[in-house]
Amino acid sequence: MPARDFDTDSAEGPQSAVKEIIRMARWAPSGDNTQPWRFEVKDDRHFVVHGSDTREHCVYDLQGQGSQIALGALLETIRIAASTLGLACGVTRRPDTPPTAPTFDVELTEIADVQSDPLADHISGRVTQRRPMRTRRLSDQQKEALDEAVGPSHTVVWIDGLMSKMGMANLLFQNAHIRLTTHEAYLVHREVIQWKARFSEDRIPDMAIGLDPVATRLMEYVMRSWGRVRFMNRYLAGTWLPRIQLDLVPALRCGGHFVLVGPTPPESIDDFVAGGGALQRFWLTATKLDLLVQPEMTPLIFAMYARGGVRFTESARALKKAQALSDRLNGFLGEQVCQRAVFMGRIGSGRTPNTRSTRLSVENLLKK
Ligand SMILES: Cc1cc2nc3c(=O)[nH]c(=O)nc-3n(C[C@H](O)[C@H](O)[C@H](O)COP(=O)(O)O)c2cc1C
Repeated sequence: MPARDFDTDSAEGPQSAVKEIIRMARWAPSGDNTQPWRFEVKDDRHFVVHGSDTREHCVYDLQGQGSQIALGALLETIRIAASTLGLACGVTRRPDTPPTAPTFDVELTEIADVQSDPLADHISGRVTQRRPMRTRRLSDQQKEALDEAVGPSHTVVWIDGLMSKMGMANLLFQNAHIRLTTHEAYLVHREVIQWKARFSEDRIPDMAIGLDPVATRLMEYVMRSWGRVRFMNRYLAGTWLPRIQLDLVPALRCGGHFVLVGPTPPESIDDFVAGGGALQRFWLTATKLDLLVQPEMTPLIFAMYARGGVRFTESARALKKAQALSDRLNGFLGEQVCQRAVFMGRIGSGRTPNTRSTRLSVENLLKK
């Protein structure tokens, strides 16, 4: 999908290098396409990334970590984009900004021997694929390239082969029950889906969610009120259809699953930002190898809440399910991996989606 087709911004004028870098880097991924960043251009060699998080209203980001991962992916993309202009960039996080608003100074310097990063060609083509992929396992060479992309700080744990994928599918199926039956998650889903849309510049278009057209219309109808969701769930087994189409089938129909693991259990903003950088190198390398990726972050998030005793929902049943999920994940991946995990997803080859989240324009991303 040539994302540049959506770009209406031109990068002319005295600050064109900075604007060109922002124009490319804004294609970095973020949870629910929230784009938790705004830019302040200081001069033609200095700009500021004003980060934010969605903890106030998003049950998946209660500690801001998902947004910090996205910011890490953005900063890595800035570095890659700058290299295409012969620029190196130094990034410093301002220590005096609150954790809800991580802020970074980006200084660009011209260095004669900066090599253009080959991943730059894939920045706008990287996309989330939520539909089934081919089931062929990744080759050893593909895995090696992906392992190398995240190193030396991070490592990849691979989950493939039919039995492992079945274990993962089962786990994701259980996890989806929490996602689909808690009011807190409903409030998020209601806001982040753009209905009857193939593209969305600040949300996820319904066509990219992964449901078939009939199920999509049904979901749109049901999601208009929490009462309808509860009725469907209670009397009409309403979670089954989305759980099968969005979780069970895609978990089986892929090349495998991966967990991106940090050197130590991630705790600080810098740890999550570093994880986001590794994720983006992984995802861009996958795109370069003609592989597609879908993040599967909610099991990690609910398990983390269970470990930390975070009461993310009013529902006692869902809290219990999150604890059970955490125990199963520990059993499945091992405690060490679970504690050091930064990101999880599935990967495989297949058709590039013809529907996707696009991005806000550079103009709209500049801090007023
Ligand atoms: C930290 C983070 C968590 C994400 N979690 C999920 C997820 O659990 N499921 C999913 O389908 N997509 C997930 N995504 C993908 C985003 O929804 C996606 O990147 C965004 O909508 C932009 O779309 P694009 O990747 O196609 O450009 C996640 C992305 C990030 C950066």
